[in-house]
Amino acid sequence: MGKIHQLKDSRGRNERQGMQDFPCLEGITYLDSAASSQTPNQVLEKMQHYYQHDRANVHRGAYALSSRATEAYEEARQKVADFLGTEAEQCVFTRGTTDGLNLLARTLPGQKVALSVMEHHSNLVPWQQRPGVELLWIEMRQDGTLDPASLDEVLNQKPDILTLTWVSNVLGTINPIGEIAERCRAQGTILVVDAAQGVPHLPTDVNQLGCHFLVFSGHKMLGPTGIGVLWGERKQLDKLPPYQFGGSMVGLVTREKTTFADLPQRLEAGTPPIAEAIGLGAAIDYLQGHGMAQVREHEKNMVAYALEKLRSIPELRIAGPQDPEKQGGVISFQLGNVHPHDVATILDRRNVCLRAGHHCCQPLLRRLTDMWTPGARAPLALLRASFYLYNGRQDVDRLVDGLQEARKVFDRG
Ligand SMILES: Cc1ncc(COP(=O)(O)O)c(C=O)c1O
Repeated sequence: MGKIHQLKDSRGRNERQGMQDFPCLEGITYLDSAASSQTPNQVLEKMQHYYQHDRANVHRGAYALSSRATEAYEEARQKVADFLGTEAEQCVFTRGTTDGLNLLARTLPGQKVALSVMEHHSNLVPWQQRPGVELLWIEMRQDGTLDPASLDEVLNQKPDILTLTWVSNVLGTINPIGEIAERCRAQGTILVVDAAQGVPHLPTDVNQLGCHFLVFSGHKMLGPTGIGVLWGERKQLDKLPPYQFGGSMVGLVTREKTTFADLPQRLEAGTPPIAEAIGLGAAIDYLQGHGMAQVREHEKNMVAYALEKLRSIPELRIAGPQDPEKQGGVISFQLGNVHPHDVATILDRRNVCLRAGHHCCQPLLRRLTDMWTPGARAPLALLRASFYLYNGRQDVDRLVDGLQEARKVFDRG
């Protein structure tokens, strides 16, 4: 095991000093960033500045205050674009990943939709609701990676759309989007990437990834809730019909008909989440202060350390690849047959925040149950520890101490 990487921010402060930026972390061990990350003061200050000094609607007023609000909002869009290596017009603000996926599930044409067994409910249920849809499932192997034979079989059926998570929020598995994108492009399948767990943690260049669409949420990347992004290849975005109708997304409106605005406004009906977009822009500044390569490196080190520590606990079973190179900062596990909610309650008494349950991935948990305990009727539940740039080794140590206590309480020590 190598020495853990000491994450430094743009001001050269180390990871511990940087903790001061996150008041909510005071006295707690936060291991649930895959559900929602913490928000640094720098983001809160930017949002407060908007409310205190630039508060007006965007794209509407003829007065300076509104121009400032519009400038700040569009500047945030440019930050998103730069972060993804793309153009601002291709970045549509949404309410989050779920909203972006619903938009695509409602507007993309095609009946045959392929997806994997590791999808979050947000990347399954909206597609399931499409009238007449035929879902094609890509299975996974024991190690929580996509089954190449199943992928081949599904792609051979030439689906209209393949919608796939970049990083699994349960297994941590990083899917090979680049390779899959090449295959999709060669056969005319539209590739949608659920990047809710990807963009916040991995350096992202949408052109290198090669997908047609990509969606993510601000609150999982140090930003506020209520904001997300849908990125699309220009040619594909142009084909999308409006998803919602109302103010801001129109050109000329008469009693009889309406023409629609250009991208991205065409897909942003109504008053957008202005302060939230500005907050997301500030979160991007914060992440870039560290550098995404550094963020990734830090998480790899966290995962390596956590895997080593967790493996020393008897009866603890880990799901997923168990390889820091192949997974993001997420580790899910089971502690013998102690129910994850009981373990999470004991950890909570030690101020260790951990998620327990099905993690919005019931088909995946069903599949894991069939692999781990064939014939079991009740599906598994799992504990999940997820890391971000503000976590350190001491957080893993506290987790492990808590798990040891749980074993004793439930008489497994
Ligand atoms: C892989 C994945 N997709 C989609 C979502 C949904 O994100 P949101 O609730 O921000 O819309 C999540 C949230 O946990 C996720 O982990």
